[in-house]
Amino acid sequence: MSTTTTYDGLADEAVAQIDAASDLDALEALRPALLGKKAPVTLAKRELGSLEPDERRTAGQAINTARQAIETAFETRHNELASSARAVALEAERLDLTEFQRSSPAGHLHLITQARDRLEDVFVGMGYTVAEGPEVETAWYNFEALNIPEWHPARGSFDTIFVNLGEPEEVMLRSHTSPVQIRTMENQEPPIYIIAPGRTFRTDTADATHLPAFNQIEGLVVDKGITLGDLAGTIDEFVRTFFGAEVKSRLRPSYFPFTEPSAEFDISLPDGSWLELGGCGMVHPNVLRNCGIDPDVWQGFAFGFGIDRLAVMRYQLDDIRELVNNDVRFLRQF
Ligand code: DAH
Repeated sequence: MSTTTTYDGLADEAVAQIDAASDLDALEALRPALLGKKAPVTLAKRELGSLEPDERRTAGQAINTARQAIETAFETRHNELASSARAVALEAERLDLTEFQRSSPAGHLHLITQARDRLEDVFVGMGYTVAEGPEVETAWYNFEALNIPEWHPARGSFDTIFVNLGEPEEVMLRSHTSPVQIRTMENQEPPIYIIAPGRTFRTDTADATHLPAFNQIEGLVVDKGITLGDLAGTIDEFVRTFFGAEVKSRLRPSYFPFTEPSAEFDISLPDGSWLELGGCGMVHPNVLRNCGIDPDVWQGFAFGFGIDRLAVMRYQLDDIRELVNNDVRFLRQF
């Protein structure tokens, strides 16, 4: 075995120890033994004097190479350990600036509002506009103009709460949305296609199917050549759009002072029975005349029904009073 070969392997053991150092302190602790006065590379250099000049040069180069290899190994390992130590320190000192915030619970529109909005959408889609009127009305709008004179027995079924505001006229909370028909016809030339949703009042005692303050939606069409067929078709179209294509509608003869002929309209239920939804009919000539519209030129139809009852049906509530108890646990379900 030549001397050169011995020196060739001189760095191997040292480099293995350096690579195995697990942290910077352990690495530095190796330095005296591997590069110091008693390190094999140092001792080997001292032996050079006893070699032949030729061998001395080759051996000297091998020893230098070994020393360099050890120094490079130190440097490389030092850099590795220093950067992982930095990463550990950074991770330990990192500040978490994110904050978890609970999202605040968003509410939703009340059931009646949802139903009213959908009704408006359906009729607006059919070309109607939305009209409004006051909740406090005079006898003219709530009764007289609608062909319900003072002596008329129908006043009984529209009994409401009267208010005394010191006015000469009789003033009351409107008992239906039909007064909006009058206000619209007074202010607008035909053709008229409007719906009027809003709050209405009666002297009813609240029970499972009645509320003294409730919501209705009125519809009014005044145009030329309007017939009962247009009314039936409109109701049918509305019912299919609102409740679904499988739901049918029917008109049943009835009586209202402001329409002639008058009807009640029903919708079919899945079990084959019928449910009354509201009233409708051809606008009475007297009503048109009361608004300055010539019944020989213009004809119209009107309809009206309860929005709350519709919500009761749609959400299958047992009791209409649930709508106004304002129990959040109940309302949250919808
Ligand atoms: N106003 C009626 C009520 O409250 C409902 C009604 C019936 C409205 C017939 C109409 C109609 O427009 O034509 O009972």
